[in-house]
Amino acid sequence: MNYALVVLLLLSSCFQKETGNLNDSDPKKILIVYLSRTNNTKTVAEIIHKRVGGDLVALELENPYPENYRAIVDQVASENRSGFLPPLKTKVDTDRYDTIFIGFPTWGMQLPPPMKSFLHDHDLRGKTLIPFNTNGGYGLGSTVQTVRKLCPDSEILKVFSVRGGSERDGIYLAIQGERKDEVEEAVASWLAEIQIGTRE
Ligand SMILES: Cc1cc2nc3c(=O)[nH]c(=O)nc-3n(C[C@H](O)[C@H](O)[C@H](O)COP(=O)(O)O)c2cc1C
Repeated sequence: MNYALVVLLLLSSCFQKETGNLNDSDPKKILIVYLSRTNNTKTVAEIIHKRVGGDLVALELENPYPENYRAIVDQVASENRSGFLPPLKTKVDTDRYDTIFIGFPTWGMQLPPPMKSFLHDHDLRGKTLIPFNTNGGYGLGSTVQTVRKLCPDSEILKVFSVRGGSERDGIYLAIQGERKDEVEEAVASWLAEIQIGTRE
């Protein structure tokens, strides 16, 4: 083995140590996909992204929901009753990823229909799914059960859930300022617990 090759090998092993702190998750294979209307879940998605890297994708609908709160509540309730899966404008090639963070608010104590569409439309067998959630103070409802039902052959890690806004009461983006600092800390502990390393 010549000298240049030895140096190259040594350098490449150092480089692997520098960047290999994401446990087994290659940052190129991480997707963070989320649904957010008033940006609380988006803020959590960005906090996760800052720590783990990967690709960050917001789910958008072909036919956006109404701006009006009562109107969206009624439409979501009707979609939940009928099982309608709203078509997504966002297209993602999920085959490129092996670890997928999925972020959603609680809507009507259920998984929002657009996230049901996403999970229904993609083959996520064998992938690791990591759910995260914001809600108006009533918790996760049946969201995670629905993720399990729609993705029976994926590994689903422990969910992260925090209180976000409460549009009903005129509270839109709540995860900002000091509250955002708190959520950043909580995200860091959760990522450590589920053993997803950080870039720092
Ligand atoms: C249509 C709709 C239904 C909601 N239903 C619930 C609910 O059942 N329980 C709850 O705790 N919060 C509920 N919320 C409040 C959201 O979960 C909360 O504001 C969340 O932080 C919004 O996330 P976002 O800012 O990413 O859109 C609802 C909000 C909307 C718009």
